[in-house]
Amino acid sequence: MSEPTESTDPVKLSRFTYRQLQGLRHGSTATPLRVIAHIDLDAFYAQCEMVRLGTPRETPLAVRQWDSLIAVNYAARPFGITRFINIAEARRLCPDLVLQHVATFREGEGGRWAYRDDSYKKINTDKVCLDPYRAQSRKILQTIKEALATWNDDDNGDNTQTPKQEVTVGLEKASIDEVFIDLSPLVYKALLQRYPELRAGTQDENRDAELPIPPTTALQWDRDCLIDLDKIETEEDDPDWDDVGMLIGSEIVRWVRKAVWEKLSYTCSAGLARNKMIAKLGSACNKPNLQTVVRNRAVQDFLGGYKFTQIRMLGGKLGDHITAAFGTEKVSELLNVSLEQLRTRLDEHTASWLYGIIRGDDRSEVNPRTQIKSMLSAKSFRPSISSIDQAEKWLRIFAADIYGRLVEEGVLENRRRPRVITLHHRGSQSRSRQIPIPGSNVINEDLLYDLANTLLRQVVADGQTWPCSNLSLSVSSFEDGVSNNKAIEGFLVRGDQAKALTRSSRPRDTDTAQGGHLPNDKRRKLDSDGARIDQFFANPVHSEDTETGEQGTSQQPEMDAEPNGIPRFTCLRCSKSMPEYEKEEHDDWHFAKDLAIQDREEAKVSQPTPPTKSSTRGATARGRGGRGGGGRSKTEKGQMRLAFQ
Ligand code: CTP
Ligand code: CA
Ligand code: CA
Repeated sequence: MSEPTESTDPVKLSRFTYRQLQGLRHGSTATPLRVIAHIDLDAFYAQCEMVRLGTPRETPLAVRQWDSLIAVNYAARPFGITRFINIAEARRLCPDLVLQHVATFREGEGGRWAYRDDSYKKINTDKVCLDPYRAQSRKILQTIKEALATWNDDDNGDNTQTPKQEVTVGLEKASIDEVFIDLSPLVYKALLQRYPELRAGTQDENRDAELPIPPTTALQWDRDCLIDLDKIETEEDDPDWDDVGMLIGSEIVRWVRKAVWEKLSYTCSAGLARNKMIAKLGSACNKPNLQTVVRNRAVQDFLGGYKFTQIRMLGGKLGDHITAAFGTEKVSELLNVSLEQLRTRLDEHTASWLYGIIRGDDRSEVNPRTQIKSMLSAKSFRPSISSIDQAEKWLRIFAADIYGRLVEEGVLENRRRPRVITLHHRGSQSRSRQIPIPGSNVINEDLLYDLANTLLRQVVADGQTWPCSNLSLSVSSFEDGVSNNKAIEGFLVRGDQAKALTRSSRPRDTDTAQGGHLPNDKRRKLDSDGARIDQFFANPVHSEDTETGEQGTSQQPEMDAEPNGIPRFTCLRCSKSMPEYEKEEHDDWHFAKDLAIQDREEAKVSQPTPPTKSSTRGATARGRGGRGGGGRSKTEKGQMRLAFQ
């Protein structure tokens, strides 16, 4: 950072007010000074394998699943290797490519996963296991938390003017390899430490007075990639506090990325911006191993180059609907559509949400409550299976798979436990059966297997069971146990010590829908971004946790009133209450949802996913070394996802 110098122009004031500065302190989503980071691991599964195998970084490596590639490291990408080519093609393009198959469970081998040399040809007996990647993901998250907790320790050290205070940092795990971090409170603290002149007005009555302008005329952006400013501004225009805040944020992110590299040998990329939507677009701009800053004054130009279908939440049905309704996919063209016009084709909430989002207005919170709501273990059969014996072997594997993940979720310590188990069966038609998991039993592999078997017998009793092309087992309706109902969701950062603490306790998942326990009531309101889009569809928006088969479901508050005397039904899977006559449709909906998840997994297994329209990244490359294309499925894994895409 440049040496602070006295302002030469005493009358010139900042565009920002003390109130907006204060907004940073508690992570207000309304302040234009917000600093949000999105961190995404580079070629994640590939890096996991490189770290595990000790592969040099310059060695081309890809992770395979049967005959498909599911991750390609950066050394392999210049050869033209992508997720969308098959193994033979990859070998042809790069004969030295290291191909590592994912770990698998194997029929008859005790339900333990392993890396096996012959897995790639054992699609009939093996089932993919992502546990190793989940474990790495957890370690990385922990390292990120610790790094955040120790950032700026030196500054805090002897500074007696600023009382040591705990700063709450919001951190949202958005998928297996990415997190959002609300850096605002840390930035606030650093701003007040570094620019004491800002302290004076924070206690004043007149919070709406403008701040003094920053004492610097040029900011040192180090190795950051900066998105160009909108044309009306130039780099010669003096920075304001939003730029200074971004600079501090980027210092924090560099520190975090360094820790992840030094402790765990993973590289990641990051985006910094005033909100999640822009930060996420930013992190993809300059991969690998770089961070990109989208300053406020760069936002409109930056977004203008995108297709709106590339924006979080617009990758699916909603995006398609809007494209059809307005005849364009481009943000720049949609900017010409007035709010009134949007309202003619979209409901009120969706219209105003969309109107804001393409103008860079995204007030969604960095939301730490992303607990797993269900777990699914599935297998497609080619050829189909046609006996109970065969099915039972798979139930063993599903039970082992789910049990392993439950252990990670703390079932052994009674932290959380699922209340419902469901078996899905696809034969000539699709069916699912579910039963409660008895609360009195200790959950172990055998219990899960026995329950699954009971469900299988029910399915078989219904007839038309064979041939069966797909089976899956899921557990859902998690509740917090009595022994410890705290979840690590937020954490406190102390200036003098790294400390990860639990922030709030949340009995049962329905709570999250009512918001009573949330530290910040605004969260409910802000989440309404999601709720609005929900209303666009008949069914709630779903957020997928991390990887295939784990899903989080927006919970609806239970209603027990029966005002019109119609019997009600409460779904065991999602706790939603409804008139009984809607039960069937609701069950179908869950079933179709599960199938959609399954289909995505199958798509990966059976054939390379074709690049979609959203894979052409428009402005992503923008001449800044971005890799542009790199087609991928419409929605990012782990992002909010609309049903059935
Ligand atoms: N993944 C997958 N199937 C998809 C998308 C992602 O299995 N359709 C897995 C990938 O194997 C990947 C991880 O999820 O390693 C994270 O995905 P993503 O961030 O999209 O890609 P990366 O491989 O990490 O590459 P990048 O450097 O572009 O982020
Ligand atoms: Ca990634
Ligand atoms: Ca990702």
